[in-house]
Amino acid sequence: MTQMTSQEPEARKRAGSAELDALRTAEERRVTDEGNPARPTGESGSMMLQRMNRSHADVTNWALDYLDFDSSATALDIGCGGGATMRRILDRMGPGSGVVVGVDYSEVSCEESRRLNADMIEAGSMRVVQASVEDLPFDDASFDLITTVESFYFWPDPLESLREVRRVLKREGSFMLVADVYRKEGLSRQVLDNIEKYHLTVLTPQEYRDLFVAAGFSDVTVHVRPGTDWICVEGVA
Ligand SMILES: C[S@@+](CC[C@H](N)C(=O)[O-])C[C@H]1O[C@@H](n2cnc3c(N)ncnc32)[C@H](O)[C@@H]1O
Repeated sequence: MTQMTSQEPEARKRAGSAELDALRTAEERRVTDEGNPARPTGESGSMMLQRMNRSHADVTNWALDYLDFDSSATALDIGCGGGATMRRILDRMGPGSGVVVGVDYSEVSCEESRRLNADMIEAGSMRVVQASVEDLPFDDASFDLITTVESFYFWPDPLESLREVRRVLKREGSFMLVADVYRKEGLSRQVLDNIEKYHLTVLTPQEYRDLFVAAGFSDVTVHVRPGTDWICVEGVA
């Protein structure tokens, strides 16, 4: 959720989200306010998603490094936004028969994901579906891998949504939740204000673990990256 300009990747690697917030420009704040990260809309929503495709690259790649990729897998990215995570997943799967589906309840997010990934959609390796995580339009046990990046914060009923995610995951399949801020001592006033402003669900590592277990996931693993506020949580269906 934290935003920054794309020309500061080194600063991003060093900084936690509190510092990143201090890097935000007034223009970025305006676009984010207008674009609405909870459900992107309009021209500002498109601009914000294109920026997030870049600014979420490092935290996403850090988390994806924990996963194993199978070139014939069927993967789902929930809250796919501008579509860059879908592309990162397909790249990591490598050449094969793998398919990546993106789902997002925002029309603008679906449009951006389709635009970015037009070639892969044309090739039959990707698909984008407009729907909410609360009611995923997929059969039980449809996916080998499910990811969500910077989206869980907004989900309406965290426990029920996670149960719905687990429903569409194949047994022994993995779900990875990625966020660039988790609840801990020392978060800046600005980050705490944003959590309140957007009504974000931001949990401690233990709360994430408990929630995943309550939703039925096993082998729950939580990673945090020292020197940042990043967290990723992996559970097996
Ligand atoms: C902050 S953006 C992150 C987008 C992208 N994953 C990224 O990392 O750049 C959050 C995305 O989650 C989507 N989202 C939020 N709540 C959702 C829900 N209940 N169901 C589906 N998508 C949701 C929003 O529409 C938005 O596209």
